[in-house]
Amino acid sequence: MIVAVDGPAASGKGTLARRIAAHFQYAYLDTGKIYRAVGQSVLTAGRDPENLEAALQAARALDVKDLANPELSSDTAAVAASKVAALEPVRAALLGFQKEFAASPPEGMAGAVLDGRDIGTVICPDAHVKLFVTADVEERARRRHKELLDNGEASIYSRVLQALKDRDARDSNRSAAPLKAASDAIVIDTTAMNPDEAFATALGFIQKHTD
Ligand code: CDP
Repeated sequence: MIVAVDGPAASGKGTLARRIAAHFQYAYLDTGKIYRAVGQSVLTAGRDPENLEAALQAARALDVKDLANPELSSDTAAVAASKVAALEPVRAALLGFQKEFAASPPEGMAGAVLDGRDIGTVICPDAHVKLFVTADVEERARRRHKELLDNGEASIYSRVLQALKDRDARDSNRSAAPLKAASDAIVIDTTAMNPDEAFATALGFIQKHTD
């Protein structure tokens, strides 16, 4: 059983994907972390995330252990991630790991939930369930701003909003696996939903689709 969860930044897709995985006892993969780890590794090497050779080298050298780096949650890592993620050869180098995770989830688990931008379109086009989670950009910026403040980080709402708009544009307009809903995905707009409501909506859809 494969559940694909795609959507823009701060739409609530990570929270939702994690809850679905916990509910069904499926394995969970946050594919954004893979791109963040590659972006962060390029930055740590003092190189430019838009440089194909540097990004490709980092993608090929990626180790699963790198995904646990707490630095990956920073906005600097997110921006670097969306730059390396626009490079087709980098995406190609990371494809095998993601497909393998979905096809053979670790520890013999009965299913996998993957979240990202291209899970339903490129990584798992045959996923049993495809969800596209979205929300208005202002609401997403409010959530990200609150998250940063709650973590004790300095944050200015207008800057968070602009950064999200820039990243949405980069993710949606790139030619390599752009952010878009698969034609057979169900769209869940979480603008006016709390996490429990989003989960209940997703669960209703999954149960209807898998009975
Ligand atoms: O958590 P948030 O939604 O802010 O971002 P993320 O899911 O960690 O992804 C960070 C960046 O990685 C995105 O802005 C995309 O550019 C890229 N990404 C991608 O291209 N494809 C994926 N499957 C996942 C992430």
